[in-house]
Amino acid sequence: MNILYAASEVAEFAKSGGLADVASALPKALKKLKHNIKVVMPRYYKIDKSKLTSLGEMGVAMGIWGEFWCEVFTCKMGQVDIYFIDYERYFGRGDLYADEHGYSYGDNDERFVFFSKAAFELVKKLNFKVDIVHANDWHTAIMPLMLESVYRYEPLLADAASVLTIHNMQHQGKFSKHIIDAAEVGWESFTSDNLEEFGGVNFLKSGIMRSDALNTVSPKYAKEICTPEFGWGLDGYLRSRELLFGILNGVDYDEWNPQKDKFLVKNYTSKKISGKKECKKDLQRIFNLLEDENVALIGFVGRFAKQKGLELLAGAIWEILHLNVQFVILGSGERWAEGFFNDVANRYPQKVSTYIGYNNEIAHKIEAGCDMFLMPSMFEPCGLNQIYSLKYGTLPIVRAVGGLEDTINNLDNGVSKPNGFKFYEASSKALADTVKWAVDIYYNDKSTFESMRQNGMSEVFSWDKSAKEYEGLYKIAKLKKELKDDK
Ligand code: ADP
Ligand code: GLC
Repeated sequence: MNILYAASEVAEFAKSGGLADVASALPKALKKLKHNIKVVMPRYYKIDKSKLTSLGEMGVAMGIWGEFWCEVFTCKMGQVDIYFIDYERYFGRGDLYADEHGYSYGDNDERFVFFSKAAFELVKKLNFKVDIVHANDWHTAIMPLMLESVYRYEPLLADAASVLTIHNMQHQGKFSKHIIDAAEVGWESFTSDNLEEFGGVNFLKSGIMRSDALNTVSPKYAKEICTPEFGWGLDGYLRSRELLFGILNGVDYDEWNPQKDKFLVKNYTSKKISGKKECKKDLQRIFNLLEDENVALIGFVGRFAKQKGLELLAGAIWEILHLNVQFVILGSGERWAEGFFNDVANRYPQKVSTYIGYNNEIAHKIEAGCDMFLMPSMFEPCGLNQIYSLKYGTLPIVRAVGGLEDTINNLDNGVSKPNGFKFYEASSKALADTVKWAVDIYYNDKSTFESMRQNGMSEVFSWDKSAKEYEGLYKIAKLKKELKDDK
């Protein structure tokens, strides 16, 4: 199939979270299945143009605002062709979605309407006859609607079906209705079963209602978002879709694999695990902690956002500090959390150490150097770090939601092949108790801890399998589109 895959971030070039990992690895896996896939993303300021090839300029109509001229760049991402939309006014900024104070850019609606349209214009520029338009998250969620309105009569898109993957329900792209004129999708789309929500527009809602096929990134999250607790106000619309699939993310084992991870001082495997000790020492050194190979070392990597359960951790940290543990934290985001965990680290420098910021190398070192990895998420569509942790022999301690529930087998009576520790209640007490339990197993039941580690390391969350499921989803989208056309 000919696939146009649009994403606002792709790991090799710009990344804020797991969407970027998926937008890099899934296209490569689909290419291996012989699909003709083209990835498109914005050319953010930090992506070095000099390493890309220019394909020249391209006009993008923005309704009453006229036509905006951008430049298209390209390069290879493995075997996959990736295209960059370069438009200084929208993407020539310090970060992807928000300014240095964490405030979302005020024109994010324009930026991503422009990008979504540019992705379709690219199809014309490349003369690419499309079977599937694959949009991801709110940034490109207006594409299914654009496909059936603005680009309805474009021959290269006449047979194209649309697919929307939801990586996160919390962020929906809610804006003022005035963007409709620039998007050119027509005011008939401003209805409550499409773009309209409380007098404004909601891009994700439109994508949910207009895409030919819809999925999210784990089976459990697909069920959860159909409930008020996890649906962020759109659960009713999700329930109205007859088919909502959950396809678990895979792992790019070329990037996340202790056997060949280029960031580690020593590589290791499940059979020859001694290198993990070296990685632990290296991590302790980097974080200014005592280089003690026996102490239980717990790690956290992630965005400091409500989703990641940092409030639960803040309430539990004092109890955790009573244990014989070291704790390393890498992340940035909400200011209170940055201040709070820095403060804890200043007070307990022998036990807690933080790195506030984004650092891919340190993220890899934490996966390798820790004994346990904490993910106390309030919700988690899939979660990649716990799956990376399994491969690195670092036992996940997780709250049993979404993809965390799907990928972690709790150490529990009767559970075959346990690979981690789970808690259910969204409370600091449940979190603290579970950390205590895991630490107790670490010190006092070494054979169980070791066998859990082996279980995790032998598991494979391959993109090849998930890519086949996406292939199935594309077929369903095509059928749905044909039925629509027949009507
Ligand atoms: P989400 O997409 O919700 O942020 P995931 O677990 O799916 O969560 O993916 C997060 C990805 O981003 C992982 O690859 C993780 O290593 C990376 N990451 C998150 N925060 C940081 C950080 N501060 N520094 C480096 N990598 C980070
Ligand atoms: C989102 C989710 C995360 C998921 C990632 C990739 O940002 O928060 O759980 O793993 O997307 O699908």
